[in-house]
Amino acid sequence: MRLLEERILKDGLVMEGDVLKVDGFLNHQMDVQLFQAMAEEWKRLFAGCEINKILTIEASGIGIACIAGLSFGCPVVFAKKTKTRNIAGDVYRTQVKSYTHNNISEVIVSKKYLGADDRLLLIDDFLANGAALSGLLDLADMAGARVIGAGIAIEKAYQPGGKLLRERGLRIESLARISAMDDSGRIEFIS
Ligand code: G4P
Repeated sequence: MRLLEERILKDGLVMEGDVLKVDGFLNHQMDVQLFQAMAEEWKRLFAGCEINKILTIEASGIGIACIAGLSFGCPVVFAKKTKTRNIAGDVYRTQVKSYTHNNISEVIVSKKYLGADDRLLLIDDFLANGAALSGLLDLADMAGARVIGAGIAIEKAYQPGGKLLRERGLRIESLARISAMDDSGRIEFIS
């Protein structure tokens, strides 16, 4: 998506440790007009797929998913990261390993909000190693929900997540796919 790629080139900063800082428009200050354009693009790409729920993960996916929920006209559920192992309630639960932060989060969704009638679009800001998306797939699987596909804002396509998950049969629509970047400021996209 041209608009997002241009914004990354204009306002994105490549930091040490292979991190693309996009907190001026994506995951701290949020450009909701840009989110709206992204949501409309996913709506076009997933036209006719009868998506009836969006599932995302705390924290940075939530804003993007909410705007997508307006375009799709459906509820948005987010998987909660929790530190307490035995929280009360009837929940689906899985673990998400973050390779970047080198930690494991327990993520949960209430059984009330995910079920066999759901046709899900998974949404997240970044796809890198695929840990977050894999966690969402686990939760959907436990609920018997059908995953129609995933909408990602920025895929670091040189990291393994996208390839692994596409090989597992997941349809992934990433709006900007980075093929290479370095801290001299170079950022290249797969068109
Ligand atoms: P994954 O995102 O594919 O699951 O892989 P990974 O474990 O590598 O990512 C860990 C966290 O770092 C994720 O956020 C992910 O969105 C984020 N991330 C990965 N690469 C970049 C990057 O280049 N720039 C930025 N800004 N973030 C990146 P998280 O910690 O799980 O959640 P959140 O609370 O930040 O949303």
